[in-house]
Parts: sequence; C-alpha cells; structure tokens
Amino acid sequence: MAGENEEAVRNKQVILRDYVSGFPKDTNMEVRESTMKLRLLEGSNGLLVKNLYLSCDPYMKFRMTKPDVPDYVQAFRPGSLITGYGVARVLESGHPNFKKGDLLWGLTGWEEYTLITAPETCFKIEHTNVPLSYYTGLLGMTGMTAYAGFFEVCSPKKGETLFISAASGAVGQLVGQFAKLFGCYVVGSAGSKEKVDLLKNRFGFDDAFNYKEELDLDAALKRCFPEGIDIYFENVGGKMLDAVLLSMKLHGRIAVCGMISQYNLEQPEGIHNLTNFILKRIRMEGFVVTDYYHLYPKFLETVLPQIKEGKIVYVEDTAEGLENAPTALIGLFSGRNVGKQVVVVSHE
Ligand SMILES: NC(=O)c1ccc[n+]([C@@H]2O[C@H](COP(=O)([O-])OP(=O)(O)OC[C@H]3O[C@@H](n4cnc5c(N)ncnc54)[C@H](OP(=O)(O)O)[C@@H]3O)[C@@H](O)[C@H]2O)c1
Repeated sequence: MAGENEEAVRNKQVILRDYVSGFPKDTNMEVRESTMKLRLLEGSNGLLVKNLYLSCDPYMKFRMTKPDVPDYVQAFRPGSLITGYGVARVLESGHPNFKKGDLLWGLTGWEEYTLITAPETCFKIEHTNVPLSYYTGLLGMTGMTAYAGFFEVCSPKKGETLFISAASGAVGQLVGQFAKLFGCYVVGSAGSKEKVDLLKNRFGFDDAFNYKEELDLDAALKRCFPEGIDIYFENVGGKMLDAVLLSMKLHGRIAVCGMISQYNLEQPEGIHNLTNFILKRIRMEGFVVTDYYHLYPKFLETVLPQIKEGKIVYVEDTAEGLENAPTALIGLFSGRNVGKQVVVVSHE
C-alpha cells in the first residue's frame, strides 16, 4: 500500500501533444517529467512495472489521429500518455499470474514506470537466454504477426512463390525467413540499397529490389517472378498492391497485414487491377495479430529452437532513451528504421 510519506520517484513520460493529421511529426509528442510512488494501492490487482524496452509500431499512428476513430482503435487524447507494446520488470504485483521480479511483455506506457491495470493481457517471459528486447519484436507481437500471417492466413505450400513488401522491416524480415525455412521461393521489396543487401545477404531471400528505384513495379515483379506470385504478404498497399495483382497466379492468396503507404494520406489511393481477383480466383484476407495470440505457446516451441540453432537472423534498430522515442516512432513512416525499431528505456 502507498505510504503517506513514501518518496515519489521521477517518471519520464511521452505524451501526445496534439492530434496528428497527415504524417506524424516528433513535435506531435513531448517528453515530460512527472513523479510516481512505487507502490500499488491496497486491493489493486494491477502490476507496477519498470519499463525496459518499447516497441515502435505503425498502428500507433491511428491512435494519435482525430477523435472520431472507432472505439476499438482506443485513441490517445492530447495530453495523455502514449501506450504500446513493451518489455517490463514487475516491481509489485496484485495479480496471481505475476510476482515481483518477473519479466513480461505486453501493453504498457511510454514512461519509466507504469501501473498496468489489465495484467491478463500481458505475457510472462519464461525464456531469458535471448536478448530481452526480442520480446518487443521477434518473440512478441511482431513475431506472432509474421507467424500467424504466414502460416494461418497465407495457407502456404512448399515450393510456392512469395512476395513481401516492407520486407526488411520488423514483420517482413521474419515472414521471409519463416517462408524460406518452410520451403518457399521468397522475394522482398524495400526502400534502400542497404535494405536490399540485408534481404539478399543476411535474411537469405532469393531476390529483392528497391521499390524506390524501379520506374515500373509491374516490370520489377515480372523480372523476379517470371511464373507469377502464389502469395503476397501485404505490408504497404497502394501502387505496390496494384502492380502485384497483375503478377498473381491462379488461386493466389494475399494476406493483408498492413498498408503503411496509405496511413498518412488524406485520400487513400485507388486500386485499379481488381478484375484479376475474378479469373485468377485470388483470395485476399486481412488479419489482426491479437486474434491469434492463443497460438503463442506453439509459436515459441517453433521459434525458440530456430533462434538457438542460428536459423533465424534478427535485425533491430535501437534508439536509446525515452527522449528519442518520438523520433524513432515517426521514422517508421519514412523508412529510417533498419529492422525492428526498439526504444531502450532502461538497461536495468
Ligand atoms: N495486422 C496486424 O496485426 C499487424 C501487426 C503488426 C504490424 N502490422 C503492419 O505490418 C506492416 C509492417 O510493420 P512493421 O512493424 O514490420 O514496420 P517496419 O516494416 O519495421 O517499418 C515500417 C517500414 O515501412 C516502410 N514504409 C514506410 N512508408 C512506406 C511507403 N509509403 N511505401 C512503402 N513502404 C513504406 C519502410 O521501409 P522501406 O524503407 O522499405 O520503405 C519502413 O521501414 C505495417 O503495415 C503494419 O501496420 C500489422
């Protein structure tokens, strides 16, 4: 229980300053210092945690936009704390699933210390023989997105051809590697030479191209897939989706994970090649990772040994300190990040 005379500690926080319209700017957020007493109130079933790593995710932009987004988006309000996925250590627990000292990943605040009021949404970290930051990505929400999106939504078969956009990013790098290990032919697109090199030389993609340097996306896809694409793992939308439709094969599948090229536009771009759906019998399915969290134990069983055996390469882009969190987050929308964008709050 919080004692009357107990000293409060500094709690640096990232706050939404004003609603975002168009591309987010770091000035839409500010870092403030507040204070917090490091004690749970009596009877609380929450968790008091110390945040260690935070995850920067494109969907967070939706939560910063206009007050008229649907309730399920759980919009931030100006002046309120930014929240998102992170890795934290439990300082005090009022919940039977956690005890002091445990590590967890789940939804937390962009601040040094957080009172988590819904501990049932958090996952206890049992395996600590990997870098803890991996639980913001490879072993957390991002990894589950790649795993569920590929294995559950794409219905892959060995030998099939797969195209991934935003392929060197957090989700993309993992989808590509899961698909290679499974036995697909994998090609990715990314926005710089450095990222294309990563795809080909570190992540083991069969081929890759820089979409910013291709004047004709249709021609680039035909060059990489002379026989066509069985599966498209969609991360960007817009012109890329339009071009991909021309190269899809009969009974092709498109897993719609994200459409980052559209998130900051006032008017979304139109898609013109939709008639391809008919004769090619293409199936396109959107998905949200949280619907697949029941697969998390199975996912860990598969992926932990693959990490241990060195079968998965994982690239992170690390920003140090909450002060740098706003810039790290907005960098996702200009492709500044190389790999999974993580913010270090504390090395403990
Ligand atoms: N459905 C779900 O449950 C779920 C869960 C997690 C993520 N997602 C989605 O998955 C996608 C990837 O997320 P992530 O966390 O892995 O991010 P990420 O790929 O690590 O970072 C975003 C990347 O998107 C690319 N990008 C930015 N603006 C672009 C544009 N206008 N056109 C083309 N590419 C652009 C940039 O790479 P380049 O340099 O290559 O352009 C940037 O690095 C996003 O669409 C996200 O919303 C969905």
